Amino acid sequence: MGQRVRSEQGKPSSPRSDYVIEATDIVKRFGHVQALSGASLQVRPGEVLALVGDNGAGKSTLTKIICGALTPDSGRLAFWGETTTVTSIRHAQELGVETVYQDLALAPDLSVAENMFLGREPLTRGIFAGWPPSLDRKKMRQAARQAIAAAGISTLNSVDRAVRDLSGGQRQAIAVARAVMWATTAILMDEPTAALGTKQTDIVYESIRSAAARGLAVVVISHDIPKMLSLADRIAVMRQGRTVSNLPARDLTLTDVVTLMLGGHARGEAA
Ligand SMILES: Nc1ncnc2c1ncn2[C@@H]1O[C@H](COP(=O)(O)OP(=O)(O)OP(=O)(O)O)[C@@H](O)[C@H]1O
Ligand SMILES: [Mg+2]
Repeated sequence: MGQRVRSEQGKPSSPRSDYVIEATDIVKRFGHVQALSGASLQVRPGEVLALVGDNGAGKSTLTKIICGALTPDSGRLAFWGETTTVTSIRHAQELGVETVYQDLALAPDLSVAENMFLGREPLTRGIFAGWPPSLDRKKMRQAARQAIAAAGISTLNSVDRAVRDLSGGQRQAIAVARAVMWATTAILMDEPTAALGTKQTDIVYESIRSAAARGLAVVVISHDIPKMLSLADRIAVMRQGRTVSNLPARDLTLTDVVTLMLGGHARGEAA
């Protein structure tokens, strides 16, 4: 792997759409459970989209489909207007899409630095005609230190510590830092602050805004609706496997969002 690129590698030179990600009419069933029954989502570069909805509404399932962790039963997924079948998490990463999973997806027995590079470890050339290659641990540790400092994680004294020994909040902060470090087109964050204290939560919110300011599309799932109303540009509300609205945050109140979550209509919205 070369030096990490923060170019717009995922963006075609003449994109066919203003949207980085467009998911349309996504359907997903787990056995008898209809998790998604026609969910849609659109997000532009530089935009923070909050995805809200009650427990079980389908938020995590929709993001897992976008990031290649799950395959939809039907529906269309497009990146920059190009219809794409995302075949794996790795494939989504190649499109510049990074994800912070609700269950974090860190490897507990590996160190912080190793987790930051999980599956994308840089190699050094061996001494005999470049062979055998080995892990460039120095580069990994340096990059991990930088990313962690940039993410404002001040409570972690070493990137060599095993993730198993860290607090829930530290783990969550590391998962966020890893996504911010690799993303070049979009970041999907599934409840990224659930385990965090006030200070670290504010840092994550800042990193969300600064990722958007860099031109990334950010989709954040959260149950903190008042915060989403001030942080996000748009709010998409999911209910029972469907996206029931996607409106600018400035046009919505807390009551509107809760009403939409429960099956009503926002003020001024056509019935
Ligand atoms: N792997 C799975 N196997 C079976 N059912 C699942 C699976 N994953 C999700 N579901 C079901 O699909 C529905 C949507 O779940 P999902 O996790 O997407 O909801 P959510 O909106 O993220 O909820 P929460 O706010 O609680 O995280 C739920 O009824 C859930 O039980
Ligand atoms: Mg969820």
